[in-house]
Amino acid sequence: MSDDFMKSRDKSLKRLIFARFPGSCNDSSGLSYAERRMLGRILKDLFASEGPLRLGQTAFEAGVDAYEAGELAAAAEHFAGTLRAEPEHVQAHNYAGGIDLRTGRYREALEHFECARMLDPQRAEYHFGAAVAHRELGATEAARECSETALALDPGLAPAHGFLASLNFPGPYYLEVISMLHSLLRPRTYLEIGVETGQSIALARRETRAIGIDPEPKITKRLAPGTSIRATTSDEYFAAHDVRAEFGGLPIDLAFIDGMHQFEF
Ligand SMILES: C[S@@+](CC[C@H](N)C(=O)[O-])C[C@H]1O[C@@H](n2cnc3c(N)ncnc32)[C@H](O)[C@@H]1O
Repeated sequence: MSDDFMKSRDKSLKRLIFARFPGSCNDSSGLSYAERRMLGRILKDLFASEGPLRLGQTAFEAGVDAYEAGELAAAAEHFAGTLRAEPEHVQAHNYAGGIDLRTGRYREALEHFECARMLDPQRAEYHFGAAVAHRELGATEAARECSETALALDPGLAPAHGFLASLNFPGPYYLEVISMLHSLLRPRTYLEIGVETGQSIALARRETRAIGIDPEPKITKRLAPGTSIRATTSDEYFAAHDVRAEFGGLPIDLAFIDGMHQFEF
């Protein structure tokens, strides 16, 4: 497209907008707040940009605002508008895919992430989005492949590690397993090394004598009356205490070692 064409197109757009929203500068215009904000953005783009108008970008920014305000339906409409104006707007594909994932539209999500991955193959998050959509659609191998690609591009992408672990080790979440063990075994005593916020030790029943050991406990969960926390390392604790004596002569019925995450421990 020639520069002249762009300039005349932008001028026509300016005329069109003023004709469509004649009283746009004051509150008596009859426009909603969202419409006035949108109009403000379009006008700002028109007057500020030297280059051609990017109508898609205006809709995209409105979409991000709506998304951040938690208005997913409005955000989805803005991103759809963005993609009508700029079908290769990669971030709009990514946001639209994310919204589709959150609203259970997995096939549509996958289409967006596939577009994003084609447009920018170096961005790990687009491959990861495709991985999540594939898994929801039951395509486990494709999900694995996409998450491995994401991790090859960005080894620090923590959610992709958790995702891959859940593909490789399917089954209930560890807290669910611990909860089942407490219900089934009804242990008299329970020892936990590494309690952090207390998510797992909080699952001990009120009838169980439980001891949690952690040099830096940050308990946020309500603990059962029979549970106590010792703020020390496990080495120091075992050097200074006889666990059986602490449990009133009972052996350890159940234990969870979740402290220092190193292979030798
Ligand atoms: C993964 S978190 C434990 C999470 C907890 N078990 C849960 O599932 O909610 C690991 C904890 O181990 C603790 N830790 C690190 N070194 C330790 C040691 N030598 N002895 C005991 N706890 C340790 C850390 O302070 C941290 O709070």
